Order: sequence, then structure tokens, then C-alpha cells
Amino acid sequence: MAISNKLSLAIVLVVGLTIAQLSSATLSPDLEKQLKNPNIDANKPLSDLINPVNPTVNNVVNQPINNAVNQPTTNPVTPPVNKAVNQPTTNPVTTPVNNAVNNLANILHEDPSEFLIPQNAARAKVSVPPFVWNETLAEFARSYAQERANDCKLQHSHSPGKGENIARAPGVLSPAKAVEMWVSEEVNYDYASNTCKKVCGHYTQVVWKGSTSIGCARSNCQGRGTFVTCNYYPPGNYIGRKPY
Ligand SMILES: *[C@@H]1O[C@H](CO)[C@@H](O)[C@H](O)[C@H]1NC(C)=O
Repeated sequence: MAISNKLSLAIVLVVGLTIAQLSSATLSPDLEKQLKNPNIDANKPLSDLINPVNPTVNNVVNQPINNAVNQPTTNPVTPPVNKAVNQPTTNPVTTPVNNAVNNLANILHEDPSEFLIPQNAARAKVSVPPFVWNETLAEFARSYAQERANDCKLQHSHSPGKGENIARAPGVLSPAKAVEMWVSEEVNYDYASNTCKKVCGHYTQVVWKGSTSIGCARSNCQGRGTFVTCNYYPPGNYIGRKPY
């Protein structure tokens, strides 16, 4: 089996652990080694998810994810607290004052509807109300996508209080295609038993009824592909709860 296939399998297994609600987060040394390998095959589209911080299950939920990927070397920048939360989607983003956030040279600008329409279609299919755009989350997503543009690693922000789906592919990865990758996991999700064959956590986050707003961004990794991230508030994927 090629390394890339093993890695994909490893990611599937890690996410599967959380979805299967196993209390053991132990990974084999071999699996851990592969998951820590930053040289993810750039020729294969990949996506991964982070589970929300939940005081009651935090250790269990986050343990496999923390094993799987390296923590960011610097903390993501917190958006200024005085920003209006509900900016109309037609208005441009207010320029953040922080320099780290201000440098968004690799961010691909697009209409929020490109992320909203396909995810809201998946929600409508299971009678879940649509997401609204959350500019605070979008600012965070842009800041993090800019940070990841340097290496294009399929790595989470590990920032508390929000859900996060990420994806990466060589060349151009459109918002619609990234969302399609996440929503395609619908076939893996069994509502009756609230379990998942292989990976379905990206899908369950998209259709999580308690999550009401999103902010997403894409960055151009300069020859390494495209990095896509969506953040969700309030976060979803709580263990033991159904998405809707
Ligand atoms: C937007 O997200 C932030 C968290 O980043 C949250 O505090 C705020 O309440 C959200 N706004 C809406 C309208 O959901």
C-alpha cells in the first residue's frame, strides 16, 4: 500500500475513532509515525475534521486529533472583540488591525454564497435550517488559511469553541468541490445508530443543527495546491448526540 493510501487510511481511522465514540485514543506507534509525517501526498485531495471542545468529552475527543497533527507553532490570532458580528454578506470585510491578520496575500476572495449554498443544500435535504455567514469566523478562517498557505499542510487550527472542516487538493480546489468532499460522506453516516462507516464527521458537522453560522476561506499554496477551511459556530460533532 502506498504511503498516501496508508495516510488516508490513518486519517479515516483517527476520525473513525472519535465518531465511533471509543474511549481509547491509543494509536499504534506505526500509525502515529505516519500521522506525524508532514509530507502528505499533495496529489491526493484530502480532508480532515476537528471535533469541538466540549468540557465533558474534551480529552477523549481531542486526543487522537492531537496525536495526528502537529500543533500550530503560533496561536491563531483572535479577531478583535469590537467587530460587528453580523456584517451583511454584501459588505467587504473591515480591514483587521493586527499585522498577522492583515497579510492575506494568499487568500482567494469569493462570495460567501459559494460556501453557503452547497452546505445549506445538504442541510435542507435533512430539514435543517440554513447557516448564516459569520464574519468573525470568516476572519479567523482567512487568517488561518493564510498561515497554512506556507506549507499547505492538512492541519487543524486547534482553536477552541468552533468546529472546523478542512480540505486540500493539488491545483485549484473550488469551494463547491471542497464542500462536495465533505458532504459526500453522507453515505457513510447511519442516522438510526448515529454511527459512521469510515469517515463521516465532516458531513455531520455540515448538517449539525446546533451549528448556525459559518465562516470559510481558501488560500493558494503557491504551487502546492489549495487549502480550504470552514469554521462552525456553535461547534458540532458532540459525542453521543445526533446532528439533527
Ligand atoms: C460568530 O462566531 C463567533 C465565534 O467566532 C461567535 O462568538 C458569534 O456569536 C457568532 N455569531 C453568530 C451570529 O452566530
